[in-house]
Amino acid sequence: MASKIFKRKPIGELLKETENENSLKKTLTATALIALGVGAIIGAGLFVRTASAAANNAGPAVTIGFIIAGIGCLFAGLCYAEFASMIPVAGSAYTYSYTTMGEMVAWIIGWDLVLEYALGAATVSIAWSEYLNKLLGYFDMRIPYEWSHSPFEISTLGNHGIMNIPALFIVFLLTVLLIRGVRESSFVNAIIVIVKVAIVILFIGFGWSYINPINHTPFIPEATLYTDSQGISHNFGGILGILGAAGVVFFAFIGFDAVSTAAQETKNPKRDMPIGILGSLAICTVLYILFAYVLTGVASLNDFRTVGKEASVTFAIQTYMPGYDWLGKLVTVAILAGFSSVILVMLYGQSRVFYSMSKDGLVPKIFSDVHKKFKTPHKSNWLFLIFVGLFASFVPGEIVGDMTSIGTLFAFILVCAGILILRKTNPEIPRKFKTPLVPLVPILGIITCGAMIFGLGPANWYRLLAWMAIGLIIYFIYGIRKSKLRGK
Ligand code: ALA
Repeated sequence: MASKIFKRKPIGELLKETENENSLKKTLTATALIALGVGAIIGAGLFVRTASAAANNAGPAVTIGFIIAGIGCLFAGLCYAEFASMIPVAGSAYTYSYTTMGEMVAWIIGWDLVLEYALGAATVSIAWSEYLNKLLGYFDMRIPYEWSHSPFEISTLGNHGIMNIPALFIVFLLTVLLIRGVRESSFVNAIIVIVKVAIVILFIGFGWSYINPINHTPFIPEATLYTDSQGISHNFGGILGILGAAGVVFFAFIGFDAVSTAAQETKNPKRDMPIGILGSLAICTVLYILFAYVLTGVASLNDFRTVGKEASVTFAIQTYMPGYDWLGKLVTVAILAGFSSVILVMLYGQSRVFYSMSKDGLVPKIFSDVHKKFKTPHKSNWLFLIFVGLFASFVPGEIVGDMTSIGTLFAFILVCAGILILRKTNPEIPRKFKTPLVPLVPILGIITCGAMIFGLGPANWYRLLAWMAIGLIIYFIYGIRKSKLRGK
């Protein structure tokens, strides 16, 4: 049994499969990869969760949270880059782990990636709903609180949420597009990236002079417990608060690993993959740190806990930056478009991972059934619409977002561990890019990501454990028996 669950998919076989199957055109360059990364990265993590981490966890020190999350991603990114340059095939961390750590770990990662991709899509769709209401507000309209929030949320006026219809709507719309084979063209992606980066820079540039030093004092609040308006307690301030904030805003970095799923479409993956992954990460980290510093300086902690809790960036501009109403409107529209592209990438990534798992026999064939005309895994897309839609409609964004963060952090830890293992087991495989300072970098990656998991607190640990326990039960009932590798 032990030898079975640790059976590894041979790298040679994997590369051969890809050659046979691969009809994808190799067109992407390093610059295109960076654009792909930035397009997938900048989203709800920055425009929604920054304020939420400031309110619940760290106040202005959320900026330090971004630094910690960026460092964790850098270490993990260096490990991802080695994998991507060595195993240039689609499928991301799942595929890497199947060849290095064996089937059970691959299953764990594949299952865990549902938290990253499917719940990530749900989180961004909930954030989309917030900004949609802001946009409607410009036309004196709004979707009632009841129909734009989950049943677990209560407004300051005492209204109870019932269902988040706009969040469900955007997931539905993008699923239909995906099924019809719409993938963001690199042209549309390039425009969205330019717009997203532009609004971040404009906000930093114009907002800088509206920073009120009082809002930054004290920069690191004293450690206490804070109970939010929904009755949930958080470690606020001090080291624990900062680690919690890092875990929350880590969400903002998720997506750079999506670059690795484009390996098959890249001209020179061995060289360009590391540049794409690390380049997009570097650009975003700098922007995020500055953005968080300005946002927490323009509006106050109390704002983020009350009136500025939702659509916080537009709120800060409209309330504290007179004369910049145009920027507020621009940000709202740009965010709605930008979030849609993030959701699309995540839904796509999800179907890709389950497609690979299904081809390997670990999940049912339905996940790799391809539509006759559109050539997309349409049944998988519909099933994930139900799954993602349920979370988007009925669970608060902060909870789904934290589950996404913790799930992805866990996947990153396994990727770092994978590099440590692979250097021992397969030192002979050529690597165009080598993670520097092994074992130090992977170990530091494991420690930093582990610290953020710790900061996310017991409720999230238990959710992760429960999700993984369900996954393992399914593996031992289904995956282990149906695995294609088993018959070989
Ligand atoms: N990093 C992506 C976002 O912040 C998931 O929306």
